[in-house]
Amino acid sequence: MNAELIKKEVAQNGFYYAEKVKQEEVEGVVAELGKTLFITDIIERDNGRILNSATDMFLHTDQPDANYLVWHCLKQAAQGGETVLVNIEEAFTDLSADHQECLKQIKLRLSLLSPQELTHPFYESGRFFYSPSLLLDEYSKDQNEAVSAFQTALERVPKKTIRLRKNDFFALDNTRLMHGRKSFQSATGRHLKRYLIQADGIENTGSMSLP
Ligand SMILES: [Fe+2]
Repeated sequence: MNAELIKKEVAQNGFYYAEKVKQEEVEGVVAELGKTLFITDIIERDNGRILNSATDMFLHTDQPDANYLVWHCLKQAAQGGETVLVNIEEAFTDLSADHQECLKQIKLRLSLLSPQELTHPFYESGRFFYSPSLLLDEYSKDQNEAVSAFQTALERVPKKTIRLRKNDFFALDNTRLMHGRKSFQSATGRHLKRYLIQADGIENTGSMSLP
């Protein structure tokens, strides 16, 4: 596993996956991929956040300045916890031209933790940003219809599901793929380490149809 190969595969396919990767190796490639914005231990705990719950997590992208999202699985739940992936462009291009135009005009709240007035566009220079939890209250009727159509398209398009196992490494392009999670058996020690990484202008060389 090396950073150049990861960059190449992510550019082509939207993601890169490897098994049996040690923590030191993860830290090494993460440092080479770009600037680490956040490192988070995703562990089940009762803090009211869906991220730390054992329930389904809806499809979304993470913060828009993170090009790469990397998970290192330190322990999977006894059952469930699959990761679900969708090519955003596929859902987007499935919409009518009017709905596409409407969506391109909308902004979403930057994050649940940041002030309400901090927003970011759904689409900017080939990069997508979307989470149903970050939609604003102030869209027009047409914009609301476009958002609904996009949500329906997300249900329709093909998804890739992968169940990470201990020591699996998974990197994806956070600006082109949405991710979600299936519910898992509670209190069985599921633990993913997540790295959000900012990189300069990553290439988009492929059609990114999920294998
Ligand atoms: Fe996420």
